[in-house]
Amino acid sequence: MGARKKVTVIGAGNVGATTAQRLAERDFYDVVMVDIIEGLPQGKALDLRESGPVEGYDSLVIGTNSYEETANSDVVVITSGIARKPGMSRDDLINTNAGIVRQVTESVAKYSPNCIIIVVSNPLDAMTQLAWKASGFPKNRVMGMAGVLDSARFKHFIAEALDVSVEDVNAFVLGGHGDTMVPLPRYSTVAGIPITELLPEEKVKAICERTANGGAEVVALLKTGSAYYAPASSAAAMVDSILLDKKRIMPTATLLEGEYGISGLFVGVPCKLGINGIEQIIEITLTAEEDAALKKSAAAVNELVEVIRLKVTDIGL
Ligand code: NAI
Ligand code: 2OP
Repeated sequence: MGARKKVTVIGAGNVGATTAQRLAERDFYDVVMVDIIEGLPQGKALDLRESGPVEGYDSLVIGTNSYEETANSDVVVITSGIARKPGMSRDDLINTNAGIVRQVTESVAKYSPNCIIIVVSNPLDAMTQLAWKASGFPKNRVMGMAGVLDSARFKHFIAEALDVSVEDVNAFVLGGHGDTMVPLPRYSTVAGIPITELLPEEKVKAICERTANGGAEVVALLKTGSAYYAPASSAAAMVDSILLDKKRIMPTATLLEGEYGISGLFVGVPCKLGINGIEQIIEITLTAEEDAALKKSAAAVNELVEVIRLKVTDIGL
């Protein structure tokens, strides 16, 4: 590996391999992909290296079944685990994925003690909390990707409804990555104009519902798995904000310690992402209704964390 920043992606499935592809194509990272399936990460990495001459990138992409090659990564994106099938909620994944995320995080932390971890595996907020404990890292170096994806879906639906460029839409979603997530129309704008002034109330409501259901809509169409293009874009955008020290404000699952009136729980809120990971948690003013929706979403996350507390009793969550 050369002088480029090193990003490891755990899991070489749909989200992991697509994240590796997006990162390699940027041409300023070296990428390591880890999976338990023999040959899978190696084959995909070779295929990605062979894309380099055509796409014009020199990024080194390595696939492996062990952690030695991941040593001293700057960022590690954890996507390993099982994904949703039709009829399954993200929460149905908890038992299998808790075991995988814990074991993977312990190996990641051993080989890259200074890295920043971005968790993608579902159920997202609970898995991020588990990874934080399993790593022993400070809270600024363990975060979850979900809000960037949920907000991207929200932005897409707004742009589509108004027939405007997605580039002029700014929108975000708070809360846990589940059915109770909280899209915030009041803070969502097109070229600075709140969407509540541009779209009728029923349309805004319908867009918010479609956003909250965005993952399930893709699962229902794909039938054999869940979304991965937009999730991979979202994870890669977080890697960029961190490693290029862009300090973007991105909705991120982070440990709240009193912010928004929530304590001891990972929940999605706007965060500043820079070279130190989560550099600031941004608190915005919520109406009573928005605040109640956020608390409901946090309660749903807490239920899942309780399940892990019961199953993985020695982790001290
Ligand atoms: P996938 O099934 O295509 O890939 C998962 C990969 O993880 C497989 O290749 C599997 O072999 C690997 N794996 C399993 N155990 C492992 C271990 N111990 N070490 C290394 N690799 C291991 O699934 P996909 O679509 O890539 O989704 C991955 C996860 O991401 C799922 O839990 C899914 O629900 C979640 N997800 C989360 C999103 C979010 O917004 N946070 C968005 C999309 C997916
Ligand atoms: C999604 O939102 C399944 O969490 C995944 O697409």
